Amino acid sequence: MMNFTRFENKELADRLIDKALDFKKSPLKNHTKGNGKRIGMVFLNPSLRTRVSTQIAASNLGLEPIVLNMDKESWALEMGDGTLMNKDKVEHIKDAAGVLGSYFDILAVRAFPSLTNKKEDTEDFILHQFIKYSGIPVVSLESATRHPLQSLADMVTVKEQGIEKRKPKVVLTWAPHIKAIPHAVANSFSEWALGCEHDLTITHPVGYELDPSFVGGAHVEYDQKKALQDADFIYVKNWSSFTDYGKIIHVDKSWLLTEEKLKDSPSAKVMHCLPVRRNLELSDEILDGPRSLVQEQAKNRIFAAQAVLDEVLNKF
Ligand code: CP
Repeated sequence: MMNFTRFENKELADRLIDKALDFKKSPLKNHTKGNGKRIGMVFLNPSLRTRVSTQIAASNLGLEPIVLNMDKESWALEMGDGTLMNKDKVEHIKDAAGVLGSYFDILAVRAFPSLTNKKEDTEDFILHQFIKYSGIPVVSLESATRHPLQSLADMVTVKEQGIEKRKPKVVLTWAPHIKAIPHAVANSFSEWALGCEHDLTITHPVGYELDPSFVGGAHVEYDQKKALQDADFIYVKNWSSFTDYGKIIHVDKSWLLTEEKLKDSPSAKVMHCLPVRRNLELSDEILDGPRSLVQEQAKNRIFAAQAVLDEVLNKF
């Protein structure tokens, strides 16, 4: 049984990247592989890309996708073991995940962090409750700590640019935002970029240091201008403080990425997972210009998900 919740090893990552690029050329090449099987896609939080791209990926493999917007359409779930359920939670995860495990062959789950309970979030408590009680393979559609399907799609997007260098310079830059945003995309991007042996620099204001367990091996540079120099790829993303957990320390608008800041990285391509706050995180001129890879990244979400589901189906 294979769960897909994180970067495991370079061999698997390379295989998934190549498989995704193959599916991009021939999306229907394994169109009967999942026949007779169902994937349940459980959303505890909103989604556009992850929801639709994973449904398309499943359909391309002959898998039947069924989406459950658990935050709106199902019973409020109690997650804690041994709780006296005399408040607002109607159903225990043990019972709900057990039922879903009996309806589906694969489960896919989106469960954002609370950004208030650091211990539970960093342990990916909710995702692991689904894994523990469903008894079937679980694919993460973004958990408290990671967004592996996004990161895989990002690595596919980097590879298809065909940069000749063995180690392209990849810069993950913090961007301003008005809401407290999870760390999952930034953590995961760092984990996959390092795992795929890219030359990773992370730049952010003081106080926005990521969980050290995701950034080992990356160069951390607090001066954004220095960090951006000679970059091949610039990944723009906001995240809230990890140290002062889930807090917005400040919204320093000078961190907005603009064309003006890219004078010393003339060939840099710019990436963002979307949704993006235009002219707060990233300028219109970049998003609508030739450097932007955001639409390619979103399209590659289909083939990244398809590669993962194909791999999961191999284990049945
Ligand atoms: N990038 C991403 O995960 O988008 P959605 O939140 O719309 O799924």
